Amino acid sequence: MTAGHGGDDGHAGASRGVARPSATADQNRQRSNGQHRDQALEWEQALERDQERKQGQERDLNGDREARARHPAGGWVALVGGGPGRPDLITVRGLELLRRADVVVVDRLAPRALLDDLQPEVEIVDAGKAPHGHNLTQEQINQVIVERARRGLGVVRLKGGDPFVFGRGGEEALACAAAGVPCEVVPGVTSATAVPALAGIPVTHRGITQDVTIVSGHVDPSHPGSTVDWDAVATGPGTIVVLMGIGTLERITAELIKRGRRASTPTAVIRDDGSGDQQVVTGPLADIPALVARAAIQPPAVIVIGDVVTIRNEVDTLRQKKS
Ligand SMILES: C[S@@+](CC[C@H](N)C(=O)[O-])C[C@H]1O[C@@H](n2cnc3c(N)ncnc32)[C@H](O)[C@@H]1O
Repeated sequence: MTAGHGGDDGHAGASRGVARPSATADQNRQRSNGQHRDQALEWEQALERDQERKQGQERDLNGDREARARHPAGGWVALVGGGPGRPDLITVRGLELLRRADVVVVDRLAPRALLDDLQPEVEIVDAGKAPHGHNLTQEQINQVIVERARRGLGVVRLKGGDPFVFGRGGEEALACAAAGVPCEVVPGVTSATAVPALAGIPVTHRGITQDVTIVSGHVDPSHPGSTVDWDAVATGPGTIVVLMGIGTLERITAELIKRGRRASTPTAVIRDDGSGDQQVVTGPLADIPALVARAAIQPPAVIVIGDVVTIRNEVDTLRQKKS
């Protein structure tokens, strides 16, 4: 996937009524990753204050029986992108449908903390999808969502990130269409951009690159079954984001360097556990497999290769100077 730079998109960056947190708060805490976490915490506190102010004005969607009753008599399926794992990074639409569902079919990397708030009568089907240990096959998942919807139930298929980015959401949409079951797709915040962003790395940056390629590292680049054009990826000018690439990290870095990427290209490997904790390892492309092994980073993780990785350190340096 390639994306041009949005240029001046006028993004405001702050919710209405929420003051940007002061740069002076907690200024002495400077553990590794601590500043990113502090910043996130400040935001969370500001948003909480704003939320409290609005209480009483907002409609409580949780347990909204009226909304449930508004569903058509027939069942429905919603393929909901749950975002990168943190429960507050699902979309408003996704959360609304989740709260109306009779059945939730959930993936391993979906924001599973949200399941705790569901009514006890909601059926939870664990689709698992752990590497090499699927609870349900894709065929079985398709059968479950279609069968429940045909029974007149509302089904949320809760997935990690965006359902259509390496998420097999397209296959589920096709299964629903073939069965004549109404299906809504609710896009999600993909881990491909969100996990780097949560670690302070923008995947594009004016003056550095206007190009980002998102690639699956599931198959070893030297494997005949690989369908990724690794030559194009290696010789292109932009950022490379690799998902599902921890198991093949050594092969990927070796192939990229062999095919033209600078061995010194700044690289980051990030794992976000969905509760606010992160593991981040940065270093030159050639050294990254050893650094990741030393830090014992396990999947899931996102690999970012490109000069944009330096922005994280620049932000840290500027913040330290100001504190
Ligand atoms: C099967 S893909 C699904 C991607 C998902 N549909 C999306 O848009 O984010 C799973 C991969 O996403 C990345 N990923 C998902 N959640 C993550 C997290 N919390 N931290 C790091 N990487 C994550 C990892 O590369 C993982 O192997």
